[in-house]
Amino acid sequence: MAKKLFIKTYGCQMNVYDSARMADVLAPLGYGPTDNASEADMVILNTCHIREKASEKTFSELGRLRQDQARRQAEGSDMIIAVAGCVAQAEGAEIMARMPEIDIVLGPQTYHRLPEMVARATRARDQRRGRGIAKHHGAGVLDTDFPAESKFDHLPEAMGSQGVSAFLAIQEGCDKFCTFCVVPYTRGAEFSRPVDQIVAEARKLSAQGAREVTLLGQNVNAYHGAAPSRSNGDGSSWNLARLVRHLAEKVPELRRIRYTTSHPRDMDDNLIAAHRDVPALMPFLHLPVQSGSDRILAEMNRQHTADHYRRIIGKLREACPDIALSSDFIVGFPGETEADFKATLRLIEDIGFAQSFSFKYSPRPGTPAANIEAQVPVDVMDARLQEVQALLERQLIDFNRATLGRTVPVLLERLGRDPGQLVGKSPYLQAVHVTAPEHHIGEIVDVEITTLGHYTLGGVLAAGPAALPLPERAIA
Ligand code: 5AD
Ligand code: SF4
Repeated sequence: MAKKLFIKTYGCQMNVYDSARMADVLAPLGYGPTDNASEADMVILNTCHIREKASEKTFSELGRLRQDQARRQAEGSDMIIAVAGCVAQAEGAEIMARMPEIDIVLGPQTYHRLPEMVARATRARDQRRGRGIAKHHGAGVLDTDFPAESKFDHLPEAMGSQGVSAFLAIQEGCDKFCTFCVVPYTRGAEFSRPVDQIVAEARKLSAQGAREVTLLGQNVNAYHGAAPSRSNGDGSSWNLARLVRHLAEKVPELRRIRYTTSHPRDMDDNLIAAHRDVPALMPFLHLPVQSGSDRILAEMNRQHTADHYRRIIGKLREACPDIALSSDFIVGFPGETEADFKATLRLIEDIGFAQSFSFKYSPRPGTPAANIEAQVPVDVMDARLQEVQALLERQLIDFNRATLGRTVPVLLERLGRDPGQLVGKSPYLQAVHVTAPEHHIGEIVDVEITTLGHYTLGGVLAAGPAALPLPERAIA
């Protein structure tokens, strides 16, 4: 009988990708997706450890799930609970000790072994049931290794369609060790998938209907995967710029290519030139800067200054004048003064972002910054966050307003909430609602933008001339 699998995903897009792949791994075992956790035979929480708040969500959700599990057991059925992702990696043993009801704890590098873990967990359960033991007694499966073999060599082909816009992991892990960040510990050292493997997955995604692919990696522009075996099997490696050009040529069905998340240090001239030369490479870049203060950037071990960042943006805008920019900011990093914070505001004013994410610094266990004594008081952090968010919000509104009245090419991705409405994306990653027949899903259509919502734009199908790029923004 078909079994039901519910996966709840927290955090970044890499987790969204991992969740899709975990579903692929479990499909041969008879697990199909459900949207309803309480009727699931197996629930996976794919967790995020980046900030304390993200981590805490795991534990409150687990509390609810344990109740569902107890109810299912009382009814004579059962539910396997698995915790995956970065909280599992960082706190796996503690989770198992605290919550013996959990069957499986697995890290981001071992999910190709899920079938084996499920078999072990199911066996342990059947044995308990045979002996009339209802409750678990710490018999869970814990697998948070960093195995020598790559999970990518063992995963089945991508099966469950991700739709028109798909994610493809090309790189994972991080060797940068920013002093605030858990990623190098939870995801491990940098690893790039070979070009051949990526092209094969891209073809598969396009055969399943993808027209846009977002290449994923924690440090995606540090990509250095093995060259394709036929063209250059000499053990050399390719950078991201070359991979993007190759994908655009070899898989032209993918009309749009994006990549995230990048580090300023790896934003090299080749990649900037690809933004000029490759039409499929979308004019949008998420390039976290974190702070505008050189002193704080040094404390963060970011290995670049604010002016270095300004110069990169200047070059990018020269190569691709309509490129829209996005960033991450942390306020209240230990020792951040009012002057440091003002430098961040100045950088934001200078550059002008289309959208951004900003966070209060959250001390993470095991990271160097957590041990710095000069932590910034919470009320100061709150005030700074409000100020930075107000500025970023103004920039977002300005950016969206600049699209009003223009015609932009929109990739239609899915049905909207209202009847007859479809939702798609502009090149600049804005969500656009438009009235159009369903069979247009998967197509790029010209849309005249006629209304501005808070986070979305509305428009009408344009019969007129091809799309114009946005006006050039002030170059820092
Ligand atoms: N505290 C606050 N924000 C953080 N980020 C990463 N670690 C922390 C932390 N300890 C933010 C950074 C990063 C984004 C994914 O999360 O801005 O770019
Ligand atoms: Fe974390 Fe810095 Fe690596 Fe990004 S570059 S994942 S912020 S350590």
